Amino acid sequence: MHDPPSTEQRVLAMHNISKDFPGVRALDHVDFSLHGGEIHALVGENGAGKSTLIKVLTGIYACDEGCIELDGREVHVRSTRQMQDLGVACIYQELNLIPHFDVAQNIFLGAEPRGKLGLVRWSEMYREAERLLGTLGVSLDLRVPVRKLGFGQRQMVIIARALLHNPTIFVLDEPTAMLTRAEIGYLFGLLERLKEQGVGILYISHRMEEVFEIADRVTVMRDGKNVASLQVAETNPDQVISLMVGRQLDDMFPKTDLEIGPQLLAVGGMGDGALVQDVSFEVRAGQVVGIYGVLGSGTAELAGMLAGDRPLAAGKMLVRGEPTTFRSPHHALRDGIALIPKDRRDEGLVLSFTVRENMTLAGLGRWVSAGLIRSREEKAVTRDQIEALNVRTYGAEQVVQELSGGNQQKVVIAKAMLSQAQVYVFDEPTRGVDVGAKIEIYRLISRLLQGGAGVILFSSELPEILHITDRVMVMFRGRMVLDKLTQQTDADELLMYALKGEASETDVS
Ligand SMILES: Nc1ncnc2c1ncn2[C@@H]1O[C@H](COP(=O)(O)OP(=O)(O)OP(=O)(O)O)[C@@H](O)[C@H]1O
Ligand SMILES: [Mg+2]
Repeated sequence: MHDPPSTEQRVLAMHNISKDFPGVRALDHVDFSLHGGEIHALVGENGAGKSTLIKVLTGIYACDEGCIELDGREVHVRSTRQMQDLGVACIYQELNLIPHFDVAQNIFLGAEPRGKLGLVRWSEMYREAERLLGTLGVSLDLRVPVRKLGFGQRQMVIIARALLHNPTIFVLDEPTAMLTRAEIGYLFGLLERLKEQGVGILYISHRMEEVFEIADRVTVMRDGKNVASLQVAETNPDQVISLMVGRQLDDMFPKTDLEIGPQLLAVGGMGDGALVQDVSFEVRAGQVVGIYGVLGSGTAELAGMLAGDRPLAAGKMLVRGEPTTFRSPHHALRDGIALIPKDRRDEGLVLSFTVRENMTLAGLGRWVSAGLIRSREEKAVTRDQIEALNVRTYGAEQVVQELSGGNQQKVVIAKAMLSQAQVYVFDEPTRGVDVGAKIEIYRLISRLLQGGAGVILFSSELPEILHITDRVMVMFRGRMVLDKLTQQTDADELLMYALKGEASETDVS
């Protein structure tokens, strides 16, 4: 292993980079630079070209035009391996781990220490893995298969893999989308340490507050172009957002007050025998019920139960007054309950299918008459959804695999919206989507309500909960510890209950 990088300025310069995909110019003459010891944020709407730019840097894609310099020397990029050897490490938007391999095997994937005969030196590998995780301050059982780890821990395995080769350039593509607040704090601490060691960090995020918390510089991309590179100290979130969207944004939280209608769903004494206990509530037409809780509070499990993904051990569920049980999401959908899952890439999409196929999968029955799919109608509906959510695609017939991360999420949401359910369970619907799409999603929720649906919103974003819900509940250690009309509570109270399970006497805020 080589020495840690020195703190002298190491520079990445990308000049005039262009990259075309069929039907779209993903990068259009982009210039980008990175100094050693700098955290440089890269932001832009979904589909702006961020991931493509870093994939050109790491050697996954060859650019059609332009050149890359590392340390002032031009590099002819031939492979990802070559870029890795030159000190470029990357954490991609999609985590790529082998689920049944253990922690150490995943860290060393393809880079296992080998002896003369090419045999893997296992004990050396485990020792090295241990040392590496130690320097990261993480304790993980090296022999546990990664499928058994939580998301934050998996992220650490990937980070360890990236740092194995002592990179001088460290690229992170939306690393925090699925992390808890504590895990994000930990990651930021790590990035600060790497920065002190002189590593140049390229950081992609949709969260403005993160950019302004840790970055030194920010580059804004729009439609495949670099529209500005600014010192963070010399700009502000509003300026960055307006550069990103290039247009005036509408009101962030459009909410129309509606008559609350009849009960659509009621649950009583619901539990899964483990992480959820004795949960009761109802959802009415025209109503948004928010459920807030920190990771591990049981919210994820509750969402799964509501959508037929996780069996009930106790309690009952009534759909429009009729008792029911779901054995699968398919059953739930038949009863009019649709889930928009959090882990959209794995659960929500068939990546090799087209945008149209994915969107209309759930509601396909609607477009079939006498065994024939009424394709003109199907196409029109798909087109409307693409437009409403501003999905960046060259058309309904593009396979979703080719869409940017955030645009894939929009397809999942569009799909659920077309299912004609009566109750929609949204699990973190605005994670990883850009500001414009966020507003569109809120507007679509509003439209669902006007159409007589009810919505259950699981969200870890307090502003979102406070602005768009009518009623809010807080979960703590598997139980509902607070249930209030949203207007009668505030962020402090919700947070207090989420963290402690009760209001604190000594709280003086
Ligand atoms: N493999 C591919 N084939 C075809 N088109 C692609 C491919 N990868 C990306 N694109 C297109 O290139 C454009 C830029 O995508 P990119 O993934 O770089 O966006 P992004 O800025 O990372 O967005 P997000 O915030 O949603 O992740 C999009 O229009 C996308 O559909
Ligand atoms: Mg991306």
